Parts: sequence; structure tokens; C-alpha cells
Amino acid sequence: MSKRVRIKTILEGDYLGKDITVKGWVRTFRSNRFIALSDGSIIHTLQIVVDFENFDEQLLKRITTGAAIVAQGKIVESQGRGQHFEMHADSIEILGDSDPDKYPLQPKRHSMEFLRDIAHLRFRTNTFGAVFRIRHALAYAIHKFFNDKGFVYIHSPIITGSDAEGAGEMFQVTTLDLANPPKDENGQVDFREDFFKKETNLTVSGQLEAELGALALGDVYTFGPTFRAENSNTSRHLAEFWMIEPEMAFYDLEDNMDLCEEMLKYLIQYVMDHCRSDLEFLDQRRANEEKSKPQNLRSPMGLLETLQFCVDNDFVRITYTEAIHILKNSKPNKKKKFEFVIEDWGADLQSEHERYLVEKHFKKPVILSDYPKEIKAFYMRQNEDGKTVAAMDVLFPGIGEMVGGSQREERLDNLIQRMKEMDIPEEEMEWFLDTRRFGTCEHAGYGLGFERMMLFVTGMTNIRDVIPFPRYPGSAEF
Ligand code: 4AD
Ligand code: MG
Repeated sequence: MSKRVRIKTILEGDYLGKDITVKGWVRTFRSNRFIALSDGSIIHTLQIVVDFENFDEQLLKRITTGAAIVAQGKIVESQGRGQHFEMHADSIEILGDSDPDKYPLQPKRHSMEFLRDIAHLRFRTNTFGAVFRIRHALAYAIHKFFNDKGFVYIHSPIITGSDAEGAGEMFQVTTLDLANPPKDENGQVDFREDFFKKETNLTVSGQLEAELGALALGDVYTFGPTFRAENSNTSRHLAEFWMIEPEMAFYDLEDNMDLCEEMLKYLIQYVMDHCRSDLEFLDQRRANEEKSKPQNLRSPMGLLETLQFCVDNDFVRITYTEAIHILKNSKPNKKKKFEFVIEDWGADLQSEHERYLVEKHFKKPVILSDYPKEIKAFYMRQNEDGKTVAAMDVLFPGIGEMVGGSQREERLDNLIQRMKEMDIPEEEMEWFLDTRRFGTCEHAGYGLGFERMMLFVTGMTNIRDVIPFPRYPGSAEF
């Protein structure tokens, strides 16, 4: 049998009149005559027309939803609506049966919760096919963006001995026997007997290692999995998520914002240019979802429209102080509609505040900068006012925080003093401080949450549905 041709290639190519072979999985088989075949290469199925008179009845019975088949025949112009081409089958062979009474995926609408429970099979649905093709394209676009700009991709470690964010919500890594751990003179667990001879954890961020790279290679980025044991059971948090962390020598905060805005627009444009049919499907899917919502909760724009809007418009840039002013005077704050009412300067912004700013007030992506130092990490550059640091968060409609970053504190004394104030032991950070001792310079960087970006470009509403096998409190299946 000739080599198989992918359905995407057939639908986009010049195969009319040609005799070819396709392989894939049956989505539906109507009237004992029309097979909708998917092979995952594109959202669309190929219609295969079967003259049932010429086929064995036993074989036809085995063409069921989910079965893997190989079909061979001629590509002809389609008589039906909805597709240009179809295959007129000369032969069909079953590669793998799928018992219709047991196969969990039927050609009907399944809930996202149900599909999450069968995440091993959900790749086979239209929605997840589209989502994961886009996930691939987005990952590729990230590498392309940075590669084209001359950045060096750094693989930061996954097991580390440091807590980059100082957040303390880490997954511990150990080979010690938890039921019977070795103890030291003081009765404490003796980590000198552990695999690494010290306490280790899964990384929460590759930033500190990226800084080491940037202060030698200039422009670098990481793109890898990061782990947080925060007990956030929300539609925006995962315990294992992927982060992109560029770090640039000789960049100040404004350079950092410029790069970040350019990157986000590039990524959105890339997906629009390369994932058209998947986006159209998801656009339609979201439009249907919106119809079931009350009028006042519907999004003003469709998915494709939202993406285009973000590419076409400058992001708003304001300081934290300006944001607090807007929020304090906002209707929901005055009417105490926010769960956390903003009283004073210094308050940490919750996602309800971030979303008010982007969705209600500005109706655009917003870059907030210069936050109070108390609510930000130790490594951020201290501003002249003594109160704020050169931090930036990028907020997106429907998402909230998409990116967090800052200009870094490059002055050794300031950094050490801030670490003291925040109880970060200097002796554990000597390697980091060495960059400030030898050839320190202005530098900046940020972290993009890959799945938050995926939520935005796909219009999906739960972060658990944009990563193949989500990890969250109480769940580590597959
Ligand atoms: O704001 P965060 O915590 O910043 C850092 O980790 C810095 N070291 C980044 C840097 O400057 N290099 O996290 C960065 C981004 C957030 O804006 C968010 O998009 C995403 O990572 N993020 C999460 N995504 C999914 N689940 C979680 N639990 C996340 N926590 C953060
Ligand atoms: Mg943050």
C-alpha cells in the first residue's frame, strides 16, 4: 500500500483525481456510507464515501467511532456541503477496533469536567486537538521569537537548592525514607544523608540562574516547567506550569516592557497566522458558550476579534500608585463590591482588582509598574523614593496577571540590605551575589506563564484544559 498522506496535506494540496492512502480514527460513520476520518493533522475530518454494496458487511460493522482504519481510494470533488474534497474508498482495513458500547467518547458534547477525568482520551476531541496544536505552535513561536533576536536558550535546573521567589511554597525532593528519616545531633532530619547532601526542591522559577547567564551571554531565556505547592484551587493556577523567563543585560524597566509587549503581540500574531482553522473552531466554540450566559456577563468581543485588538493597540502603562488611585475611586470599591476593598496605598492587588483595571476601566492589556517593595521579591531594583521597586506586571483581559518581571537590583549593598530585611540567608546566595561583585550591570527580565498565554489565545476558561495532564491540589493522574 502506498505511503499515507496526512489529511491536512490533502485538504490544502492538489490531490484531486489522485489515488492515495489515509490512516486515522473514525469520528462518525453515517448511513453506512460516510466516514468522517480524523488523523490529528488538522481540525477538519476527511469524508470517506463507502459504496456499502462492495464491502463486506462484517467489516462495515467494525467501522465505529474511535476505530483506527486505513483507507485507500481516489480524491474527488465533494457533492455534499461543508467540504471541497472527499475520498471514494476502494479498500478499507481496520487497524484497531473500538467497541462502541465501551468507548467513552461519543460524537456528542461532553463536559470539560468529564473530559478532564479521561484526559488520556481527550486529545481525540475537536476542542483538545485544536488546543494542543496551538500549544505546539505557541511553544515554537516563543523559540523563534527569541532565536531571531539572538537570545540564548538556557536550561535552568529543575531540582534546586534555592527558593527563587522567596515564596516558600515548594515541593520538596528527597530520597530519604520518610517513615524513618535519619536524625542529627539535635533530633532534626539529617539532610546530609540525603541524595544531594542538602535540602532540595523543585524549582519555582529559573530566573536566578537566567541572571547568571545574562551577565555573561547578554540576552538569554529559559522555557521549562516550574512548580508551586500553593493551595490555589482556581481556574488560573497549576501546581506544575511552564514559564518563559527572558533575562537581558543592559536593560532597564522600560526596555523590559518594550520587549515584553513586542513578544506578546508577536506570539498572538503568530498563532493567528499559523493556526487559523483551529482558532476559527475555538472562536465558534466560545461564541456558543457565550450564548448560554446572561447578556451582562458576555464578552464584548469574540476570540479572533480580541486577539486582533491586542495586536493592534498599545498596552496601557501606569504605575501601581496610579492604579490604586483609580481603584480607590472605582464604583465597586466605593460600593464595597470587591471582596478585598482597597483602603490604602500598599495593598496587594487581587485578581478582582487587576481584572477591573483591564476589563472595565481600560479595556486593554495594562502594564503596571513600580509596586511597593513590601509586596515584591527581594531581587527587584529599589527606586529612588525608598518605597517602591522597579517591578512590572502585565495584566490581560479575561486572565489577569500574564507576566511578572522587574529590573534587577544590580547594586551589591542594596541587594544585601534587602536580603537582610527579608531574612534571606546570605551564605546560601553567595553564587548569586557574585554577579554583583564581579562586573555587575543594569539588567532586567520577566516571566510569562505559558498556560496563562494559552488561555488567552485559545479562549478556554480553565487552565486545566490547556495543559495535557494538569497537576493541581488533589490531582496527579496519568
Ligand atoms: O509573577 P511570578 O511569580 O514571577 C516569577 O516567577 C519571576 N521569577 C519571573 C521573572 O521575573 N523572571 O510568575 C510569573 C508568571 C505569572 O505572571 C503567571 O503568568 C505565571 O507565571 N504563574 C502561574 N501560572 C500558572 N499557575 C501558577 N500557579 C502560576 N504562578 C505564576
Ligand atoms: Mg507575579
